Amino acid sequence: MKFSFSSEDLVKLRGDMLALPVFEEEPARERAVVTLDKPLGGLLVRLIDEERFKGKKTQSLSLHTHSKIGAARLLLLGAGPRKDFEPSEMRPLAARAARAAQSAGARSLVLLLPDLDRPSQERAVQLATEGVELGRYRFDKYLSEDRRQPDTLVEANFAIEKNGGRIDGLRRMVDRGKVVAAAVARARDLVNEPAGEMTPRRIAEIAKDLAKKHGFEAKVLGPKECEKLGMGMYLAVARGSDEEPRLVHLTYKPKGKARKRVALIGKGVTFDSGGLSLKPSASMEDMKMDMAGAAVVIQAIAALAELGAPVEVHAIAPCTENMPSGRAYKLGDVLKSLAGKTVEINNTDAEGRLALGDAITYAQSFEPDEIFDFATLTGACLVALGPHIAGVMTNQPKLRERWLGAAALAGEEMWPLPLPERLKEQLKSEIADMKNTGERYGGTLTAGLFLKEFAGDTPWVHVDLAGPAFAEKEWGHVPKGGTGFGIATVVEYLTARE
Ligand code: BES
Ligand code: MN
Ligand code: ZN
Repeated sequence: MKFSFSSEDLVKLRGDMLALPVFEEEPARERAVVTLDKPLGGLLVRLIDEERFKGKKTQSLSLHTHSKIGAARLLLLGAGPRKDFEPSEMRPLAARAARAAQSAGARSLVLLLPDLDRPSQERAVQLATEGVELGRYRFDKYLSEDRRQPDTLVEANFAIEKNGGRIDGLRRMVDRGKVVAAAVARARDLVNEPAGEMTPRRIAEIAKDLAKKHGFEAKVLGPKECEKLGMGMYLAVARGSDEEPRLVHLTYKPKGKARKRVALIGKGVTFDSGGLSLKPSASMEDMKMDMAGAAVVIQAIAALAELGAPVEVHAIAPCTENMPSGRAYKLGDVLKSLAGKTVEINNTDAEGRLALGDAITYAQSFEPDEIFDFATLTGACLVALGPHIAGVMTNQPKLRERWLGAAALAGEEMWPLPLPERLKEQLKSEIADMKNTGERYGGTLTAGLFLKEFAGDTPWVHVDLAGPAFAEKEWGHVPKGGTGFGIATVVEYLTARE
């Protein structure tokens, strides 16, 4: 898609659709509205009144202009109260505009950017770019032709009311937005693809292709190699399935000296049936999404390579199915982890922490400065934080604050959760070093505490994505299905000027 900027008169701007964010309170007196109302013969202000358009975030208003202004259609997008507006809101706003443009069959969209200070304006441009690209995202490869909406939109123009001719910096932000959006869209594709197709082997193939394309290293470990290393927890999960596991290890090194070395670890359970602790059918329905963490780290490293991030990045995704079968791991089994600790299994549906625990130990071998893991780990996290917010746990609160700062800038909602030592009691076993699950209450925290055992002294942040990885309903810039949640924050965190 082509992006451009203009700071011309709104009345003259040409395009199939002109979208204006309109703030709450007095929409009819908003400058852009006043400017356009004149050539439209007072129609705009009248419609705002008749339709009771107040500028609320849930509202929008669209009209034909019958060539009275340069744009063929006008779309007012409610943007909520002006004082609450954050640049990150440009992403859902731009996505709404792109979706409306697409369903009107528009080829070109002009989007007015609100007046903001310089740093906010740059961010708004990046996020608006992401919004336009991601608002158009669809997973329609399995739909018959007649049910696919044609992809009409080819051009977006950002209109800036006041601009001192400093468009160069803004163009850079468009490029950044495009890279992030493309990575998010590819991650969504990985998650949306049915588990029958998106097997561990398939993920490994895709990861290798990406590495070739973006010029970083790819290493893939099969079951024999993992066995040799001693990844007893990860392999136990894999054992019940006829599909072989694949541990994907991607490495990106910057051209110059790296500022630090970071490991990104993603849970790659391509289908979670629960194993012998079988899930009820309804809970299993969306469990193709249990590899969303893997999708995040694999696509984030590709984006970081494309942007030439100044850090060494390792993306590690232990991929496997979790299935019941005659070979499946059993309740009461005692597994030996790569770290040497033994684990008694009291629930085979707590498989993510087993795969991740070994992956964290694996990552320790190249001495990262920081480890981040991303996992659709616990249903309890959905209960605690709802479907849009990720839970963030750590062994180093300062690092978590920096991470949450990046999340806020990237417009991804994340919230800190504690790791209370007291709950470790729940993981005590009579016959092994630990059990893999605690009690029902505090399920997200005991999962975090389990992982913490493998992080040791390495600064580590655990992101439970169970809610935001997969959308049951469309929200903001996110359509139903896989969301790609997490990538924007990783890119923000690892490319920030420090
Ligand atoms: N993949 C699930 C967690 C999950 C649930 C993600 C719902 C997204 C939506 C995970 O492997 C799991 O089954 N967790 C169990 C843990 C329990 C057995 C301690 C859970 O949440 O019930
Ligand atoms: Mn499970
Ligand atoms: Zn799972």
